[in-house]
Amino acid sequence: MVTVSVIKADTGGYVGHSAVHPDSIKIAEERLAKAQQDGLLLDFHVGKVGDDLALILTHNGGVDQEEIHRLAWETFEATTALAKKLKLYGAGQDLLSDAFSGNIKGMGPGIAEFTIEERKSEPILIFLADKTEPGAWNLPLFKMFADPFNTPGLVIDPSMHDGFDFEVLDLIEHRKARFSTPEEMYDLLLFIGAPDRYVIKNVYRKGGNESVAVTSTQRLNLMAGRYVGKDDPVLIVRCQSGLPAVGEALEPFGFPHLVAGWMRGSHFGPLMPVSFNEDTPSRFDGPPRVVCYGFQLCNGKLVGPRDMFADPSFQTAREQAMQIADYMRRMGPFEPHRLPLDAMEYTTMPQVMERIKDRFEPVE
Ligand code: F6R
Ligand code: MG
Ligand code: MG
Repeated sequence: MVTVSVIKADTGGYVGHSAVHPDSIKIAEERLAKAQQDGLLLDFHVGKVGDDLALILTHNGGVDQEEIHRLAWETFEATTALAKKLKLYGAGQDLLSDAFSGNIKGMGPGIAEFTIEERKSEPILIFLADKTEPGAWNLPLFKMFADPFNTPGLVIDPSMHDGFDFEVLDLIEHRKARFSTPEEMYDLLLFIGAPDRYVIKNVYRKGGNESVAVTSTQRLNLMAGRYVGKDDPVLIVRCQSGLPAVGEALEPFGFPHLVAGWMRGSHFGPLMPVSFNEDTPSRFDGPPRVVCYGFQLCNGKLVGPRDMFADPSFQTAREQAMQIADYMRRMGPFEPHRLPLDAMEYTTMPQVMERIKDRFEPVE
């Protein structure tokens, strides 16, 4: 068994909220290399998207392993120290607590992890998004694992034909439910069509507990009770041999669907698939974007990464995203470019509303 943990945080932006400073990556690599020497890690890769650093770790510790979570926390403390030294923007932004307390969940950084029996060949894709929230994965995950128009394997591969199970979290009421597709597809869609509240946490092989995809689902604003930036979620997907082919898992991103986030975490915009060298949002602090790190797991070693969106066949999706960005931007401060009022609750907008609340008087 091997555990794959992807733990991410924004510990300071360079410049503004646009990128990770190169020295932050060096610091993270040094820390993780030391942990590998000490035998805590099997392997690691430091990934990034926009202003977010993602620690991609393999180990034998299982999920929720204190030493692994501590390693990630202390790595983020070290990159925060650099951010403070260089006065990078929002130094330590995602570290909501002063001290580590055993598990990184609920402390700010995002985490997706699972323990798997490594197959004869184990291709995995790690998606990292910036300027959006965890529900951004709902639509692509549905397409990968439940939509035959995206994934022909659901129709023609006997080992996929029975479908998959989805575990959905209700982020407001802190509940979860499991839906089996294709039979309960419409029930599933009822919930995941509201991605600000219901998010897919796991996809399982039908009727079992073997996770084949897992997401990070923390909502910083709900945790902190104030605006602290978007969550910028991560997603791990296993591929091939009875699971979506690599190309079936990438295919949903050929359509730049609208997600919440972008400027001030307050606007809908297209999720643009980009290569590693285009992963730094700039226009209107965006548009939101996604990169994909592809690896072959080999006895816990991460062979890779390959830059999966560095492919001209995603160029039309990028162009479409930019056209959508132009179109949405012309709405300016109007909904539905700006998020609806209840979603604006965790921005700085209520403070402004509070100032002018006395302007309204009762109507007869
Ligand atoms: C979006 C994001 C940015 C900031 C924006 C304003 O997730 O982080 O768009 O919201 O740059 O930042 P402040 O208020 O810190 O100047
Ligand atoms: Mg930021
Ligand atoms: Mg970010």
